[in-house]
Amino acid sequence: MMLLLVALAAINSSAAQRPSTAAAERHFVDSVLARMTLEEKAGQLNQVTGLGSPTGPGGVPAGIEMIKRGEVGSFLNVIGRDTVLKLQRIAVEQSRMHIPLLFALDVIHGFRTIFPVPLAEASSWNPSAAERSARYAAREASAEGIAWTFAPMVDIARDPRWGRIVEGAGEDPYLGSVIAAARVRGFQGTSLRDPTTILATAKHFAAYGAAEGGRDYNIADVPERTLRDVYLPPFQAAACAGVQTFMAAFNEIANIPAHANAQLLTGILRNEWKFDGTVVSDWTGIGELLNHGIGGDSAAVATLALKAGVDIDMVSEIYRKQLPSLVRAGKIPQKTLDEAVRRTLLLKYRLGLFQNPYRIGNAADVQGATLTQANRAAARDVARESIVLLKNDRNVLPLSKDIGAIAVIGALAADSVATIGNWSAQGRGADGVSVLNGIKRAVSPRTRVLYESGASPMSNDAAGIPAAVNAAKQADVVVLVVGESPVQSAEAESRAIIELSGAQQELARAIVATGKPVVVVLMNGRPLAIQWLHDNVPSIVETWFLGVEHGTATADVLFGDYNPGGKLTTSFPRVTGQVPIYYNHRNTGRPPDSSNKYTSKYNDVPWTPLYPFGYGLSYTSFRYGTPRISAATMRPGGSLRIDVDVTNAGKVVGDEVVQLYIRDDVGSVTRPVQELRGFQRVSLKAGETRAVHFVIDAQDLAFHDASLNRVAEPGSFTVFVGGSSANTTQLRFRLETPDGRPLSVPATCEAVR
Ligand code: NOJ
Repeated sequence: MMLLLVALAAINSSAAQRPSTAAAERHFVDSVLARMTLEEKAGQLNQVTGLGSPTGPGGVPAGIEMIKRGEVGSFLNVIGRDTVLKLQRIAVEQSRMHIPLLFALDVIHGFRTIFPVPLAEASSWNPSAAERSARYAAREASAEGIAWTFAPMVDIARDPRWGRIVEGAGEDPYLGSVIAAARVRGFQGTSLRDPTTILATAKHFAAYGAAEGGRDYNIADVPERTLRDVYLPPFQAAACAGVQTFMAAFNEIANIPAHANAQLLTGILRNEWKFDGTVVSDWTGIGELLNHGIGGDSAAVATLALKAGVDIDMVSEIYRKQLPSLVRAGKIPQKTLDEAVRRTLLLKYRLGLFQNPYRIGNAADVQGATLTQANRAAARDVARESIVLLKNDRNVLPLSKDIGAIAVIGALAADSVATIGNWSAQGRGADGVSVLNGIKRAVSPRTRVLYESGASPMSNDAAGIPAAVNAAKQADVVVLVVGESPVQSAEAESRAIIELSGAQQELARAIVATGKPVVVVLMNGRPLAIQWLHDNVPSIVETWFLGVEHGTATADVLFGDYNPGGKLTTSFPRVTGQVPIYYNHRNTGRPPDSSNKYTSKYNDVPWTPLYPFGYGLSYTSFRYGTPRISAATMRPGGSLRIDVDVTNAGKVVGDEVVQLYIRDDVGSVTRPVQELRGFQRVSLKAGETRAVHFVIDAQDLAFHDASLNRVAEPGSFTVFVGGSSANTTQLRFRLETPDGRPLSVPATCEAVR
């Protein structure tokens, strides 16, 4: 300890103790910077992978000697408190500058207590659930020495073939913005000096979710208007919520790879949005500029990336090797390098690492904070809220706990590893409650639970189907669990066909043929094309991957201990060929019309999704009153209030997500047919009526016009209020300006409140 204090005093401990104002930060960081060699500066920008499981190809783990030489600024994938402490001690005590390391990890939906995958969690339409789960994750991760997560992923995804749709909030920029801000707040807390907080990362900047054909890493050919109106808002929301880092995306946008995209990383992010944090590359993203076919050699891509605004090089080692000589040769200005280093040191300063490089609890704290009953209870709450009831004909659900015999069918049903989904940090399959176990725990002792795997998503082996049919025949009801293995919806896991995989479809047909009532429980990380199931089974419950309490939460819903209230945040296609399919599309000159051949539709399947954005059922029903608007006209600086009475018209308590959409009826450029602009999840007792209100102003009408100015144009607007994007009541108002000209509505943090 004595040694550490001496080492830190050598930097400037008095400055490090000062409160974190911008001037104090700058003063301290500059005093460190002034004494660093070029090699040490490049070292701060060098992020290397630990020996833990790699999350990308290649990547050479750093040796201890590199840390001593000051050639490493941060690690990812170093797992375990003791290893973190050991490496930190080497950096702080044995490197010349004594600069602490940063330890980063993909803490995506929980650290050890695994919560629902982000796509599931967004289906709760509950930002405080998202904030809460991020807070739990930060507490557990920080107790193990992690100070930085590469989350939230805030990529808008309109194509479910893309495997990483599972990591985001879905297809809508408004909902995506609300969830992005909530997750940032959860990870970063109210003060980064609180050792239970971790830095968050808004990724992947930008338009990674627009991968052409849904193929991961593919190009994104997105016009700047779409970029700004659709893909960027959640990133700006994260910036406004104080996110400390951004990660550049693997993809190019309109021919410029994100890692070399100065307009994006500097023009928009730093100049327009005033982001003062740090940009990290994605895994070998700087080196991959060579494959994109720009730059031509390592020195050139290092120059392109640094000048564009990438501060930290994850895994490529190109900065470490190239930057010192490039600066010496005058190819990169010293101040460009210094700026990137300054921003990196600032991260460490803001976390208080210069003061306390070992900002983690003791071993007892780790035990005390991890996978506790309270953590599991929180995970169960969020899991229940994330479930979406897709179909429930004849009220087959909820089931009685005293039903006689239940056949639980499907390999996923007994798979506790699947429950925790992908990107599950330190989560363990053994911690997860499978659907089968959840059901067994919930039913009365008199109920027999039969289990047969039947078929699994990753295999065409149909040999288990006869036994499954046999079990079904002995039961009063079948719970058929089908969907995806978690490895099917993840990075580098795009699918060209999103119907049921393996022998699952054959299994479903065989089970339905028994004539028994069938409840389908879906486990999956993306919308699946399940038209056949929809046509042939009475009840379908979407459970995604819900984390360690998957089985308990699912059983809560199956047996009516919890009334599902989640809603879809991505449209479900009928067949893969319909994708991309999303609700906030534009109208075309020939909008679909079944009575007119020459309109925009298919000749083999309907143009509509199987389940639309915002859709989800309940065990009760909700009745909407006629929405009222406070005035027929909105004027500059003004707002309108929309009120609607929502009644729980059934016999049980239930949650409804009341949604508000707006359409700009006539624009100077074409506008989406509707866009979400407000929502509230409300819980209503049987018979209860609640007045729900929304306030809208010019921010809710704004878009980027032909000159890319953000404006609200005078004229007519339609408001849609209801329980799904496809089930709304409409009303109208007009925006009027004194001179009849558009209002300028800059994209400030006001816009993403
Ligand atoms: C590549 C992924 O694209 C990114 O999301 C992740 O954070 C890094 N690998 C680090 O694991």
